[in-house]
Amino acid sequence: MLFPEYRARRLRRTENLRSLVRETHLTVDDLIYPLFICEGEKVKQEVKSMPGVYRFSLDTLIDEVISVLELGIKAVLLFGIPSKKDEIGGSAFASDGIIQRAVKTLKEKFPELVVITDVCLCEYTSHGHCGIVRNGEIDNDLTLEQLARIAVSHAKAGADIVAPSDMMDGRVARIREALDEAGFVQVAIMSYAVKYCSAFYGPFREAVDSAPKFGDRKSYQMDPANSREALREAYLDIEEGADIIMVKPALPYLDIVKMLREEFNYPIAVYQVSGEYAMIKAASQMGWLDEEKVIWETLLSIKRAGADLIITYFAKKAAELILKRGK
Ligand code: PBG
Repeated sequence: MLFPEYRARRLRRTENLRSLVRETHLTVDDLIYPLFICEGEKVKQEVKSMPGVYRFSLDTLIDEVISVLELGIKAVLLFGIPSKKDEIGGSAFASDGIIQRAVKTLKEKFPELVVITDVCLCEYTSHGHCGIVRNGEIDNDLTLEQLARIAVSHAKAGADIVAPSDMMDGRVARIREALDEAGFVQVAIMSYAVKYCSAFYGPFREAVDSAPKFGDRKSYQMDPANSREALREAYLDIEEGADIIMVKPALPYLDIVKMLREEFNYPIAVYQVSGEYAMIKAASQMGWLDEEKVIWETLLSIKRAGADLIITYFAKKAAELILKRGK
């Protein structure tokens, strides 16, 4: 049917008509809220390039998680900021490390909360790389052993899901093997399967002080020019035992999300990263964009592209908007 018989505007005439034919819906079940955790007490320190995002110490973290749960958000993704860094990221798998204590504390207080942990070395190494450096290069296979230790230490602390974000080859298989050997068959892996080497991670690196001290991450993170390679990465991680695959960043890579959605029947998580957050915040603060509407539109587009789960620093705001719209 063509115009004038077909008129697309008929079903756009009122909000109730539009809502009858709406194809995509955001729910609070889709959301994962990232949190930065540091040493100390009573710390709630704003990240400069991410207004409204804070570093929390273990005590203030509790209050934050209470407000997260009150909004109906069920899952958090934890990033640790250790007080000491070294060449091999030794504090990343200490049983009394910042993340291990945070997981224990949260699971004791809120047993139902889904606790996901970032498994990577960059927050813990003095050079800021996501792996062990040998002769100026990132040594893949040495790094795998560290990652396996980190994942097991998170599982011991009570993590429900571990999320390796390092982009080393073979890490999902190595982590799965280590978890199973240690008796953690129930702990799931959400792999950053398709993680691009992106300039949008800038504010995150300020938050956890993890910018590489030399070189860049191009030898392990993906080239933004590639999409067929994303399929290979996702295939590998699924073969190796990933339970959830992730695409990151979100908006510049929605074509990749769509492609993976069509190819795989596994849950797909999409990470709206720090730089995406910062852009929206900055433009809104200037009065150049309507923050709430832009948040809604970006999250909707991520879901429409095929995301099952969305990791976003806007999770609390989004949950509020979802509740408001539901009324
Ligand atoms: C650690 C890691 C990074 C992010 C998540 N895990 C940074 C990086 O790879 O440099 C970025 C998240 C964000 O920008 O919000 N490897």
